[in-house]
Amino acid sequence: MNNKPGIEKLELKVLICDRSRYINDLWSQFGLSILADCYWKDGHSRRILFDTGWESDPLLHNMNKLDIKVDDIDALVLSHCHYDHTGGLTKLIRNENAKFKLIAHNDITRPVYSLKPEIHYIGLDEKLLSELPRERLMLLADETEIYSDVWITGTIPRVTDFEEPEEDVYVLKDGKLVEDPEEDDMALVFNLGEEGIVVVSGCSHAGIVNILYKSMDITDNKKIKSVIGGFHLIDLSQEVRKRTVEELGNLNIEKIWSGHCTGFDAEYLLKEKFGKRHEMFYTGDVINFTINK
Ligand SMILES: [Fe+2]
Ligand SMILES: [Fe+2]
Repeated sequence: MNNKPGIEKLELKVLICDRSRYINDLWSQFGLSILADCYWKDGHSRRILFDTGWESDPLLHNMNKLDIKVDDIDALVLSHCHYDHTGGLTKLIRNENAKFKLIAHNDITRPVYSLKPEIHYIGLDEKLLSELPRERLMLLADETEIYSDVWITGTIPRVTDFEEPEEDVYVLKDGKLVEDPEEDDMALVFNLGEEGIVVVSGCSHAGIVNILYKSMDITDNKKIKSVIGGFHLIDLSQEVRKRTVEELGNLNIEKIWSGHCTGFDAEYLLKEKFGKRHEMFYTGDVINFTINK
């Protein structure tokens, strides 16, 4: 028998995205940060921050405008190491009132570089994590249920034959730069039972379809209510974009929200295929899910 309380309501707020609707005084920057407020039927709730954008100040500015306090964050989940998702972490970690648990892949501190236009570091500052007391750091590689019906996918198996890793990302291994398989890429998944699952992804370097496969698998729920994230189709081929959109169509997703590194070409294809079932998200957008009792 399932004794879980069940999620009653989920509210997602886009705290940072690359684009703005220019209807509020929030700041946009390259990167992604999404706040998830999750409420269970037994009355308890948790506040989860997913990624932190590129720099701390725009994130803290937006949090201040929206009256979100660092000390109210229960868990901070990092989707992967790239600076546009982890750069904002610095001032959150150093905030003396912070009590959040930091959750990330155990490979998140590997040294990663881009070579264009010249070599530069694109990963997370490893020393930063050592500033956190050990009990507030949770590093993982396998799927993990962090709260009741709230999952972190862990490493995503590369199953599809069309989703490719992005180009120009390298990891320093034994003194040499080799292509980075980006295995730290993970998503946050809410299982809303009969309503389906809600999947929040950062850059989807593992491939958004691969991510959805694993999300359905670990929750044992084949219904996808919504997927929200950057789908990193911006610098992949038109062929990859088309195959991705085609396969998303086979998954019967109720609503797709795209932003960040998805790219306009892919967003055009998504809009063409899904119509009102596709929406582009902007800084400040709020996406609500309420579960019928
Ligand atoms: Fe990104
Ligand atoms: Fe990325």
